[in-house]
Amino acid sequence: MIFGNSAQVNKTRAWKKLVKHYKKMRDVEMRGLFRKDPQRAERYNINLDAMMLDYSKNRITDRTMAYLIALAKTCKLPEKIEAMFRGDKINHTEKRAVLHVALRNRENTPIMVDGRNVMPEVNAVLAKMRKFSEAVRLGKFTGHTGKKLVNIVNIGIGGSDLGPKMAVEALRKYWSKDINCYFISNIDGTACSEVLNKLNPEETLFIICSKTFTTIETLTNARTCRKWLVDALGEHAVAKHFVAVSTNAEEVAKFGIDTENMFEFWDFVGGRYSMWSAIGLIIAIAVGMDNFEKMLDGAHEMDMHFKYTELQKNIPVVLGLLSVWYTNFFNFRSLAIIPYDQYLHYLPAHLQQLIMESNGKFVSTQDEYVRYCTSPVVFGGAGTDVQHSFFQLIHQGTSVIPCDIIVPAISHNEVGDHHEILLANALAQGEALMKGKTVKEAYDEMRRAGKSKEEAKRLKKYKSFSGNRPSNTILFKKIDPFALGMLVAMYEHKTFVEGVIWDIDSFDQMGVELGKQMALSLLPELQNQASSISHDSSTENLVSVIKRLRK
Ligand code: F6P
Repeated sequence: MIFGNSAQVNKTRAWKKLVKHYKKMRDVEMRGLFRKDPQRAERYNINLDAMMLDYSKNRITDRTMAYLIALAKTCKLPEKIEAMFRGDKINHTEKRAVLHVALRNRENTPIMVDGRNVMPEVNAVLAKMRKFSEAVRLGKFTGHTGKKLVNIVNIGIGGSDLGPKMAVEALRKYWSKDINCYFISNIDGTACSEVLNKLNPEETLFIICSKTFTTIETLTNARTCRKWLVDALGEHAVAKHFVAVSTNAEEVAKFGIDTENMFEFWDFVGGRYSMWSAIGLIIAIAVGMDNFEKMLDGAHEMDMHFKYTELQKNIPVVLGLLSVWYTNFFNFRSLAIIPYDQYLHYLPAHLQQLIMESNGKFVSTQDEYVRYCTSPVVFGGAGTDVQHSFFQLIHQGTSVIPCDIIVPAISHNEVGDHHEILLANALAQGEALMKGKTVKEAYDEMRRAGKSKEEAKRLKKYKSFSGNRPSNTILFKKIDPFALGMLVAMYEHKTFVEGVIWDIDSFDQMGVELGKQMALSLLPELQNQASSISHDSSTENLVSVIKRLRK
């Protein structure tokens, strides 16, 4: 209980100061702040060797940041950061340590959980990943008939899919030429069929990724793929075409995979934080273990920045506090994440799980319902595509949606002037969101362009932009493995900061259980077996209509 007997963060002095400060800030225009302070871009900027955060286009002043930092201190953020890195059981509902940072602890300092240093196990799995990924890449570990395994299929869902899929796509330029990667996650048979239809079983390796090894989608897909392989090559082929990544050796063995072919990870790694573990095996096979380790190096660099940098200059801290500022004081309820890099097009999907599964919570660590908002709704997509879809609402909608604009200065494919056009668009969005265009400016512009007075008057509001809409610009030189590691770790820690301020357990995911439970009770009914559970009339009607349609 960090705020005293069942007190909540919104009752603290630090919070109340922010409430008052918000009243002064809510009508302040960023345009004016930029005009008054020529140093604003430098003041609200954190520059590390490999990346830069420009957060000057936010509705903040020095005072805002000071109040937010005071809030962070009230919530004991520095102590909580230390507790995570130390291996304390900060996932309090599940009584688990939270140690994705151990997976990329490149200095190999001891990290203790229940009195045991976890680093030797982490290093052993990394070594096993290196050995196996190199053997596959070099064609030394072959399929049952001796053919090189060139199709790598990851079967998993949620954290056992989104992270590796995002990273494999982000690093496409680093793929070994003869290797192709595929992902099967959805239980929809289409997902499985569409992948299997393309593949030759003799050349296909399946990696079954499941932390629990009980997830119905993953196990059902894995069984279907196993049958497909056995039908083609026989039962003996399984050992050469299936490996598993899991914390659950017993279930892996039951499934019929030799635990020799299993890569272990641990319950101190949450699913959505697991791409750094053997769940990233497909990444290592695609881009090589050296590149995988560069990604770990980048994440470690961000870990060290997060752990050791004062709060004011700490990128995840600043991003987390800005998120709280908008969510809880301005009541802005969404966040758009826009990477201006085609290879990062799966990043918003990965971050959606990371942020929303972590912080979409309504109970505080004091076992009380929270009396304030927690996670924003996260969405996004690659720029410039999304400028031609949802950006209309971001510029002129009645909701304000803070944006993270992620920009690599150099493209992996410098084709003609494509990248300069892309960059111009990325920067233009941030500037346009901040500045907007007044009604008068819109009117004058139309007049200058030759529109009649009547026409300009009629359209001036439609063509105006309220502006004062916040964005962060996150700049990299190029999205290489190191930069990708930094970027993803940055969001992991930002999410942690939000969770600390909101005083919630960011590391469980109990909210996904009810739907799973109900699906299990509905399945026998759809399969014409009796069920003892009665449903609401809408669900029952839907069951009977669907059964009729499927006859
Ligand atoms: O249903 C949510 C969830 O538990 C996620 O947190 C997790 O990433 C996903 O399912 C997959 O779980 P597993 O890796 O155990 O199959």
